[in-house]
Amino acid sequence: MTDIFKSSTIGVNEATPKDLKELWGIIDEYGKLMSFFLSNNIYSYDDFCDMWNERIVDAIIGRDIKTGILLGCGYLHQLLPGHYATINVIKRRRYQSPEIIPAILAGLKYFFEKHDLVKIVATIREGNVPSSKLAKELGFTFDGILRHHMFIDGKWRDFKIYTILREEL
Ligand SMILES: CC(C)(COP(=O)(O)OP(=O)(O)OC[C@H]1O[C@@H](n2cnc3c(N)ncnc32)[C@H](O)[C@@H]1OP(=O)(O)O)[C@@H](O)C(=O)NCCC(=O)NCCS
Repeated sequence: MTDIFKSSTIGVNEATPKDLKELWGIIDEYGKLMSFFLSNNIYSYDDFCDMWNERIVDAIIGRDIKTGILLGCGYLHQLLPGHYATINVIKRRRYQSPEIIPAILAGLKYFFEKHDLVKIVATIREGNVPSSKLAKELGFTFDGILRHHMFIDGKWRDFKIYTILREEL
């Protein structure tokens, strides 16, 4: 398998079903902050696997080169080939490295080319400040608010929509 990205610290590759257990571990670190999962009634590893098989259309993971520990993932859960896809990025809590941004950018390039995309979309819950910050750092543009976009914890929540065009990467 060809590396999507490789530096002295992070390697990015396609995700395999074997990675699911470790991915669930990362999601679990965030607990109730993971609004996408809550809004889809995902509370256990089994729920997560079902969702993965039904809804995730493509996924990549980043690992620490030396230890092999899973550092995070990026996956598409809506895809219109030749047009756009919606992405989620999840990183191990508090893991920091200057290689994170270049690794994610390489992942975006991989998705753009593989699916011949015009744009990649990120929908981020209002109040999810770290995700909005990351989207801006990656070069996404804030397009507007999606009102009442997901039903989470008994209420319809607004989401921010960010997009990046192929030529902006
Ligand atoms: C988005 C993300 C990649 C940003 O990276 P980062 O800023 O380096 O993130 P950190 O790991 O340092 O987390 C920063 C803080 O934001 C908090 N945070 C993370 N996701 C959050 C969310 N959805 N809502 C509110 N706060 C959130 C973290 O708990 C952390 O607080 P802590 O220091 O008390 O643990 C990372 O926070 C993440 O993977 N979050 C969970 C998944 C997510 O929401 N993805 C975006 C969906 S599009």
